[in-house]
Amino acid sequence: MLDWPLLAPLPEPQRRDVLRVCRRRRFARREVIFHEGDPGDCVHLVERGRVAVRVTTPLGDVATLTVLGPGDTFGELSVLDAEAVRSATVVALEHTETWVLHSDQVHRLRAAYPAVDDLLLGLVSGYVRRLTDHLLEALYLAADIRVARRIRALDIAYGGGAIKLTQDDLAGLAGTSRATVNRVLGELVEAGAVRVSRGRVSVTDRTALGRAAG
Ligand code: CMP
Repeated sequence: MLDWPLLAPLPEPQRRDVLRVCRRRRFARREVIFHEGDPGDCVHLVERGRVAVRVTTPLGDVATLTVLGPGDTFGELSVLDAEAVRSATVVALEHTETWVLHSDQVHRLRAAYPAVDDLLLGLVSGYVRRLTDHLLEALYLAADIRVARRIRALDIAYGGGAIKLTQDDLAGLAGTSRATVNRVLGELVEAGAVRVSRGRVSVTDRTALGRAAG
């Protein structure tokens, strides 16, 4: 059982009580966990696997906002705001297991443990900060640099192991086309920064990748 930061403020017996009443859900690769616009009544705590958080662009393309894995939480935005619907679609990228915390439970935890509220606030302010960075990058940096930066961040998120994402996913994360991702990956391979095999990117030289990330 993982130690999710969101449950860290709870004493161990209470943490176990919370997880005892959680529903466990399993999702197959490519299964949609929920859709953008759905009503939201629960928060998911990721135990294993990885999910992509995606939104539809005004032109009907799909942009990937982030990739989450074990220890991460998603689905809190619409639970925090009773008027809101799901702000993004969440899809399992591989076999994924989550613990589902119903909104009533989340509200009870927030009331009982103010530190849970602080953590939720920290999570949301993290989104704002990252979105600001990504907006500035999208407006002022070349797509090549954005691709290298996303790979650098994914390398950390995947714990230095192989990043199991398609070029479409990388394109959606960097806000560019698949063709650009393909070209940049070719250049990074040439520079010895990454190794690419079917549906996987592995970072082989972090210094070289850092140079490409600007
Ligand atoms: P919710 O709006 O309930 O459903 C979609 C979830 O995706 C959302 O809660 C957050 O957990 C997550 N999410 C939405 N926008 C972002 C973002 N910009 N960065 C990271 N996660 C997000």
